Amino acid sequence: MNLAGNTILITGGASGIGLALAERLLKAGSEVIICGRREDKLNEAQQKHPGLHIRVCDVAQESERISLISWVSQAFPKLNVVINNAGIQKRTQLTDTQEEWAKHQQEIAINLEAPIHLSLLFIPLLRKQPNPVIINITSGLAFAPAAFAPIYSATKAALHSFTLSLRHQLQPTGIKVVEIAPPAVNTDLGGPGLHTFGAPLDDFADAVIQRLQAGELEIGYGTSEMVRKASRAELDEAFNRINNR
Ligand SMILES: NC(=O)c1ccc[n+]([C@@H]2O[C@H](COP(=O)([O-])OP(=O)(O)OC[C@H]3O[C@@H](n4cnc5c(N)ncnc54)[C@H](OP(=O)(O)O)[C@@H]3O)[C@@H](O)[C@H]2O)c1
Repeated sequence: MNLAGNTILITGGASGIGLALAERLLKAGSEVIICGRREDKLNEAQQKHPGLHIRVCDVAQESERISLISWVSQAFPKLNVVINNAGIQKRTQLTDTQEEWAKHQQEIAINLEAPIHLSLLFIPLLRKQPNPVIINITSGLAFAPAAFAPIYSATKAALHSFTLSLRHQLQPTGIKVVEIAPPAVNTDLGGPGLHTFGAPLDDFADAVIQRLQAGELEIGYGTSEMVRKASRAELDEAFNRINNR
């Protein structure tokens, strides 16, 4: 993928992995739009990088996904890359029957329903462009789940599966479909201070950008690169390592 000359939408681009990619793609010479729920975080990102375009949007809401595509189609008719990055991670004890279904539903809506629906909504616009790409951010936990985050891990496994089917179906259209499966990366995922044991964000983002530029369609890093290619026995071992530490 040529990193310059694109018009790119990154959901959840005001922090963490989304922002790290936004900064690099902007610097490489692409137009970048980021969206998220917190307006103050979007403004902060734009103040730091005045070239960024921002939009408040809750991708969990169907109506907001539809407003997003209609705004983008008007304001950025040359949009050729969509990065489905917005995600949340909740730690859930499945035996705690007091937990409200709405909490799980929100995690499924943000992590799975939104990227599926946004991919479908953007296909007609992307088909009109040169070099169209959809990039889905899954996780190493798509391959070896973390039992402390069972809904999260399931959404990422499902998004990995959807990404394979999407790539297959879109092949004749010329729209490339890329999967980025991060390992643990130090961001605010799940709440500040929970992801401090992972890879440094800048190292991860630099590696991802290099591999996007090289045209790779499936991108892991460190342990997620290992589980992405693992045998059944190696996946069992990874599951035990993640869940019995
Ligand atoms: N960090 C890791 O260890 C890791 C590992 C594997 C995969 N990932 C994946 O990488 C992606 C980015 O996560 P991150 O680590 O960078 O965490 P992060 O810093 O918490 O970023 C997540 C972003 O998503 C946005 N977001 C959440 N819900 C949203 C919604 N309903 N609508 C619009 N935007 C929403 C958040 O902004 P608002 O709260 O303002 O909406 C935030 O900017 C996620 O898909 C995550 O699952 C991360």
